Amino acid sequence: MKFDKSKAIQERARKRIPGMTQLLSKRPDRFSQGVWPAYYDKSKGCEVWDLDGNHYQDMSISGIGACILGYADPDVDAAVTEAIRKGVASSLNCPEEVELAELLCELHPWADMARFTRSGGEAMAVAVRIARAHTGRDVVAFCGYHGWQDWYLAANLGTENALGEHLISGLKPKGVPKALTGTALPFRFNHLEELQAIADTHGDSLGVIVIEPIRSTRPDPGFFEGIRAIADKTGAVLVIDEISAGFRFCCGGSHLELFDQTPDMAVFSKAMGNGYPISAIIGTEKVMQSAQDTFISSTNWTERTGFAAALATIRKHRELDVHHRLGELGRAVMEGWKKAADKHGLAIRIEGLDPFPHFDLGTKDPLILKALFVQLMLEQGFLASNLYYAMFAHSDENVKQYIQAVDVAFGIIAKAIDAGNYASMITGEPAMAGFGRLA
Ligand SMILES: Cc1ncc(COP(=O)(O)O)c(C=O)c1O
Repeated sequence: MKFDKSKAIQERARKRIPGMTQLLSKRPDRFSQGVWPAYYDKSKGCEVWDLDGNHYQDMSISGIGACILGYADPDVDAAVTEAIRKGVASSLNCPEEVELAELLCELHPWADMARFTRSGGEAMAVAVRIARAHTGRDVVAFCGYHGWQDWYLAANLGTENALGEHLISGLKPKGVPKALTGTALPFRFNHLEELQAIADTHGDSLGVIVIEPIRSTRPDPGFFEGIRAIADKTGAVLVIDEISAGFRFCCGGSHLELFDQTPDMAVFSKAMGNGYPISAIIGTEKVMQSAQDTFISSTNWTERTGFAAALATIRKHRELDVHHRLGELGRAVMEGWKKAADKHGLAIRIEGLDPFPHFDLGTKDPLILKALFVQLMLEQGFLASNLYYAMFAHSDENVKQYIQAVDVAFGIIAKAIDAGNYASMITGEPAMAGFGRLA
């Protein structure tokens, strides 16, 4: 395999783009710098061709969960092409945005209204702004990862690493006004007592409670009910961030499946557009009307392809029960990981939920071993990491071939661990964990 073009473009990117990419999760050092191709020429279904013409089956992060159906899905692309043919912008608005608002409210009967943006973190900032405008209170209690904006990174002001418990460690709040210190207070998933403590201390200023409904573990019975009760008691607006979980457990927000009670707002992005940029903030009329009391407005939020893509994605999802298949795929992959690990006596820990499970290769040098796994899988024609996001485009045959390759990789890794020579086997850099500067 040749990687000349991949390597050359990475050098050019380093010079012109700080941190090389726009998304931490697509940085080559997350996998193994020097080995991971990082750029693609073409993608279709679950196949990817890099700049040097190498061909892969992508069993890794699936556009970090954005492409739930598969790359270049024909139905979504047809809807987008039609939108382009009719003109993606004008001095008037496109009707698709009203249709999407109606469809989302139909899927979530508790919601009455929607606003739209283009990316996930941006949509979360809109949700928090509306919620703060509604309650007139500043303090946000949150659980989980919610993006890069000031309201969220403020949690790390004056603390060592408050956000380290919420997916990404090492996020520096540089550039975030120090005046925001104390406005974003974390509580851990399934630790209702931590939210209760925040409510006890900040009851009068607590304006918003933000949670990810599910990520690696299921909510304990009573967790969400407890949060709802605290929101009701304090008057805080309850926002559910469905940016990663949405459309993976049912057609719509996972909260529809997980909880009997409803939030005041929910936020979607990623899977909803199958790779096209579109995000939605939905909510009750009472809360959403507060968007009119503050200024939330952006030119490109009116562009047509995002709405067209979301409508086509959701309709196909609903018609084909896509989430059932995602669960099936994830279970098959987890079973394959387990069988291969057991066969080679490799002590891996498998975690996560069916549509996006992950494993870790033990506690000794996990980042070197991850790099070795990535490298061994690339050599066999797979984009792979220690996490798997299921796509509807993954066939049983893809899974079978992938697990065969995993079996080979795990066999080599197990032997390398026994021999103690795994560090000398990686041709790239060890994987990076958490946030840090690109070397
Ligand atoms: C739950 C959650 N919220 C917010 C975000 C931020 O979304 P984006 O990367 O589109 O800004 C993510 C991204 O991974 C996410 O998983």
